[in-house]
Amino acid sequence: MKTYSKNFGSSSNGSHEGEDLRRLLLDGLRDLYWAETRLTKSLPTMAQAATSKGLTRAFESHLSETEEHVNRIERVFKLLDEPAQGKKCAAMIGLLEEADEITKSTKDGSLVRDCGLILAAQKVEHYEIASYGTLRTIAEILGYEEVADILQMTLNEEEDADSKLTQLAQSHINVAAAQE
Ligand SMILES: [Fe+2]
Repeated sequence: MKTYSKNFGSSSNGSHEGEDLRRLLLDGLRDLYWAETRLTKSLPTMAQAATSKGLTRAFESHLSETEEHVNRIERVFKLLDEPAQGKKCAAMIGLLEEADEITKSTKDGSLVRDCGLILAAQKVEHYEIASYGTLRTIAEILGYEEVADILQMTLNEEEDADSKLTQLAQSHINVAAAQE
């Protein structure tokens, strides 16, 4: 298997930009690896808390995608010839705490809860979209084409998940919540 291990020398001006960029990529991947793994634990709870079948299904299908996202990051670590290691991601902890708070502060079976869960889930998606987008670009700069392709695949799915949530919000939930 082709791997992209470290092979940077310092440039003539003594800078180590390639190496520093690779470190930034690895840091970002560790953060995402932890965040995605943590998300697989929260999505079943969010699916259960949701009121509408459509939202429950959206969370369930994103759970199977998220499991695949975890596998893909493991593949990326292999390509980079680095151990698959997570680094606790404070941002994801905060975002998932928000989801929890929303569930606790809204009525079971209410559409307001669904609106709140969509709000929380879209914040998670946007965090992931920002992370995957930038890490993909860094991989491109470093010439790690296969890594960039894998990250792009996940980025597409995160964007689709985000649009699906927007559609759900627009189709019925927001309207119904306003009537409650
Ligand atoms: Fe994901």
